[in-house]
Amino acid sequence: MKVWYYSLLLFVTTLMGCFLVNDAQIDPTFGFVEVMLNETSFEYQKPYDTSLEQRYSYANGTHRFWVYADDKPRNLGSNTQPRTEIRIHPDYTSGIWQFEGMAFVPNGTSGATIVQIHGAAHGNTTILLRIYDGDMRYYSTPVIDTGLYDKWFKVNLIHDVDGGK
Ligand SMILES: *[C@@H]1O[C@H](CO)[C@@H](O)[C@H](O)[C@H]1NC(C)=O
Ligand SMILES: *[C@@H]1O[C@H](CO)[C@@H](O)[C@H](O)[C@H]1NC(C)=O
Ligand SMILES: *[C@@H]1O[C@H](CO)[C@@H](O)[C@H](O)[C@H]1NC(C)=O
Ligand SMILES: *[C@@H]1O[C@H](CO)[C@@H](O)[C@H](O)[C@H]1NC(C)=O
Repeated sequence: MKVWYYSLLLFVTTLMGCFLVNDAQIDPTFGFVEVMLNETSFEYQKPYDTSLEQRYSYANGTHRFWVYADDKPRNLGSNTQPRTEIRIHPDYTSGIWQFEGMAFVPNGTSGATIVQIHGAAHGNTTILLRIYDGDMRYYSTPVIDTGLYDKWFKVNLIHDVDGGK
């Protein structure tokens, strides 16, 4: 991630689905089948020289992450920016998938990535949603939503792998 950020607070629900049918306009999860996530679904990533407990906690169903601009990268010798994050399994290579989650980003945080999908046909990343100054951006631009600091908000991200959308 080409970002730096001070802290990030993120709650991840246990809903991810594969597509069956979708003709509803209201509930974006309509027609999807829920995939139950548990600890084996989560791979934790954090600065290489800290313990996980120094950058992450889990309580009351909330996963809390924080990282500092001068933190080390994930791996010694890597030139990537610091992050504390959860990579969610399983991987998928076809079909239509949805991520749903609730997130909370405190004012004072900048460049926090809310959700990212890796593995585009070209390059590393299919999508990246970040918060800068309370605004959610698709990469650095365009702005998708505004005024998101200090409140819980919901993210539904639908990835049509075969359609490339
Ligand atoms: C965790 O989820 C995986 C994938 O759905 C499943 O195979 C495994 O049995 C689950 N483990 C537990 C302890 O529920
Ligand atoms: C978890 O919830 C309980 C009951 O509402 C509360 O007493 C406790 O402070 C919460 N813990 C954290 C870390 O938020
Ligand atoms: C964030 O907090 C600062 C300092 O209290 C305030 O001036 C600013 O308006 C806040 N920004 C947002 C987007 O809420
Ligand atoms: C990922 O991105 C980096 C930096 O742009 C590039 O050097 C690397 O080759 C990419 N890796 C893949 C698998 O696309």
